[in-house]
Amino acid sequence: MNIQNKTEQLKKIKDEVVACTKCPLFATRTLPVVGVGNHDAHIMFVGEAPGANEDATGVPFCGRAGKILDEVIESVGLKRENVYICNVLKCRPPGNRDPNPMEKLACVDYLKRQIEIIQPKIICAMGNHAAGFIFEQFGLGDKLVGISKIHGQTFDSPSFSYPVKIVSLYHPAVATYNPNMKKVLIEDAQVLKKFI
Ligand code: URA
Ligand code: SF4
Repeated sequence: MNIQNKTEQLKKIKDEVVACTKCPLFATRTLPVVGVGNHDAHIMFVGEAPGANEDATGVPFCGRAGKILDEVIESVGLKRENVYICNVLKCRPPGNRDPNPMEKLACVDYLKRQIEIIQPKIICAMGNHAAGFIFEQFGLGDKLVGISKIHGQTFDSPSFSYPVKIVSLYHPAVATYNPNMKKVLIEDAQVLKKFI
């Protein structure tokens, strides 16, 4: 797919998300947070759900965790504009509660379509929640033994129409208050250099 088609298809997803009522979260969110970045990105970062800052701006990872994510991206020699950033859930759960399984299942089709359009070489699932759900949904449930064991390891997902790898990384929000975690997160992220 050429870049123009990709942009058109992603715009269609955005329109659908704006009008989406597939789960109750549409009623309490301010703005949906669809995704930002390069429509031809080789690397896609996926968090769990928008927080308060994201809900107010419509931009994923725009708060404190986002600053750490920017550092991670820069540590492999890239900028935010070179990658694609989104979440499993496009609408913020009220009060940042954990999204329930029904909400995640209702929303994941948008993420799967974003992946099929952009065709990243590698998807970074950030944090235990996103990693757990993504591994399960993307045919890697048998590899799921906890993020503390598999962070930084790449796996081949059999779920897509093309070969894509998945890696789990610690969530940047954890790294905002734990410098050790930040060190591990940046170390793990160096695997991404192979996919630039
Ligand atoms: N945490 C997430 O998982 N996603 C965001 O967009 C912001 C914070
Ligand atoms: Fe639709 Fe996803 Fe928002 Fe639920 S979270 S209303 S499924 S876009």
